[in-house]
Amino acid sequence: MRLLHMSDIHFGGEDAPALAAATAFAKATPFDLLVLTGDLTQVADDNEFAAVKAWLAELPGPMLATPGNHDTPWMGLAERIAAPFRRYARSVGPPDDSGFAADGLTARAINSARGWQIRLNWSKGEVSRAQTSKVAKRFAAAAPGALRVLACHHPLVEAAGGPMTGRVRGGRHAARHLEAAGVDLVLTGHLHAPFMQALPYGDGMTYAVGASTLSLRERGARPGFNVIETRGGELTVTAMAWDGLALEVEHTWLAPLRRRAGDGV
Ligand SMILES: [Fe+2]
Repeated sequence: MRLLHMSDIHFGGEDAPALAAATAFAKATPFDLLVLTGDLTQVADDNEFAAVKAWLAELPGPMLATPGNHDTPWMGLAERIAAPFRRYARSVGPPDDSGFAADGLTARAINSARGWQIRLNWSKGEVSRAQTSKVAKRFAAAAPGALRVLACHHPLVEAAGGPMTGRVRGGRHAARHLEAAGVDLVLTGHLHAPFMQALPYGDGMTYAVGASTLSLRERGARPGFNVIETRGGELTVTAMAWDGLALEVEHTWLAPLRRRAGDGV
């Protein structure tokens, strides 16, 4: 099983050479699912979403995407409050509770971004109890041996040493319930820096994985994306980085996956 995990492209402020290299990689490398964890645009205007749409049409599939806080209109408060993800829905797809299933894989996406919140910093995340309960039930109903993957924009639990925070309301509650539902991977963006760490719940085998950015908005890490592979009960997460001339391996994490009835390992 191979997943490609790209995030925070911020069309309008994309790193064009890095994005071209990532796109070429996706075209040349067979994968089971491409996961996009939000901030596809910079200010969510029509030109940026047109660029997103053209890029998605160019890519091989299948693809599962979720919006980020930059994917709600930054101009026009009324739309931001009344229909924050209307533009995203038109160009990309359902902003919440979307999914993909194939033999051996169940992937779901939930929206942790909000058009507005009752706090000053609207860019931070939120996962409601209703979202958590719904997605946990979907994972509980997944095929017994399937790899369970959750995608959202904000890291549910803060990444150790990360360049910024997600401050996700309901994040720890969601993380605990996803672990209990047997979720193997929680894929996120937002930080613009790659990381992997085990969530501190249950058997410690639910892994939070963050991707870097493919934009010019670097925060101490080079632009890049993740290649996530599973084989024989082992998980390998490889952060690829654009060095200005070519892609190279930035970091590789190895970890065991939890065993399940039906996986034959
Ligand atoms: Fe971002």
